[in-house]
Amino acid sequence: MQLEGKVAVVTGGAEGIGRGFAVAFAEQGASVASLDVDAANNAETVRLVRAAGGEGLAVDCDVADRAQVRRAMNGVLERFGRIDILVNNAAVWVDTALTSGTYESQARAFRDSMDICALGSFHCALAAVPAMRAAGGGDILNVITEHVHEGHLITGLAPATGYDCAKWAQWRLTETWAVELKPHGIRVNALCMGATDSPMFRATHDSPAEIMPADIARAALHVLAHGPDGPTGQSYLFAASGTPRERGLREIAALAPGAGA
Ligand SMILES: NC(=O)c1ccc[n+]([C@@H]2O[C@H](COP(=O)([O-])OP(=O)(O)OC[C@H]3O[C@@H](n4cnc5c(N)ncnc54)[C@H](O)[C@@H]3O)[C@@H](O)[C@H]2O)c1
Repeated sequence: MQLEGKVAVVTGGAEGIGRGFAVAFAEQGASVASLDVDAANNAETVRLVRAAGGEGLAVDCDVADRAQVRRAMNGVLERFGRIDILVNNAAVWVDTALTSGTYESQARAFRDSMDICALGSFHCALAAVPAMRAAGGGDILNVITEHVHEGHLITGLAPATGYDCAKWAQWRLTETWAVELKPHGIRVNALCMGATDSPMFRATHDSPAEIMPADIARAALHVLAHGPDGPTGQSYLFAASGTPRERGLREIAALAPGAGA
């Protein structure tokens, strides 16, 4: 199995795409800790992780809170003894338009977008990297979006400003961390996909997305499969919104080592 003996931390693993990572990693032999604010759904994720054959740990953690993140990572280390993989997946999509809500509501929404997605990714990496260095290396995957790629920037969608700014921050973190952490054997890459079926997607769209969380998890496994000498600092664009499902799946398959991606 691809991840036998590995320990993965997934943020926002209680549902949606994060749950997809957690279950797929467990199927590949990993022990998985899911850090989330939604304790009820997180418990269900851990049940699914165990059903998939992995060890699971649900940690109640707001990634925007640096003390909670540090405690959470310490808890993971106490339970599993190492951290090999960190997936910065937790995010919120909240309306940050200048023309809606109130001064207070929009300022709070923008701050939440940045705190959870961008600052949360920083907290988690800061807390996990020492453990990865102790283990001799590791992988960080930042879950971004197609929006950061040229031609996929959503223009005219005012509510997305906080979300997109946070995703742009994650994009820069990916490239900078890749350079900083390469000497320590830690690869840093990002997944930049389009519409994917999840509670977040369903809350903002009338029709379902064609790509499923399990498809995104397969993309993550392909990126991880390149091993310690594989590419780092990459922001992989695949299955962009509007791409027919079959083509999206071909793009995901092309991320596998030796597939010529
Ligand atoms: N769904 C899509 O179409 C799509 C497309 C591109 C990128 N993404 C990205 O994929 C990732 C997962 O998105 P999703 O669609 O599964 O979202 P989702 O809203 O369905 O799930 C997000 C999870 O994050 C958790 N979370 C929220 N705030 C948190 C916090 N402060 N601390 C810890 N956990 C927190 C939620 O409880 C939830 O379990 C996000 O980074 C999102 O930006 C999604």
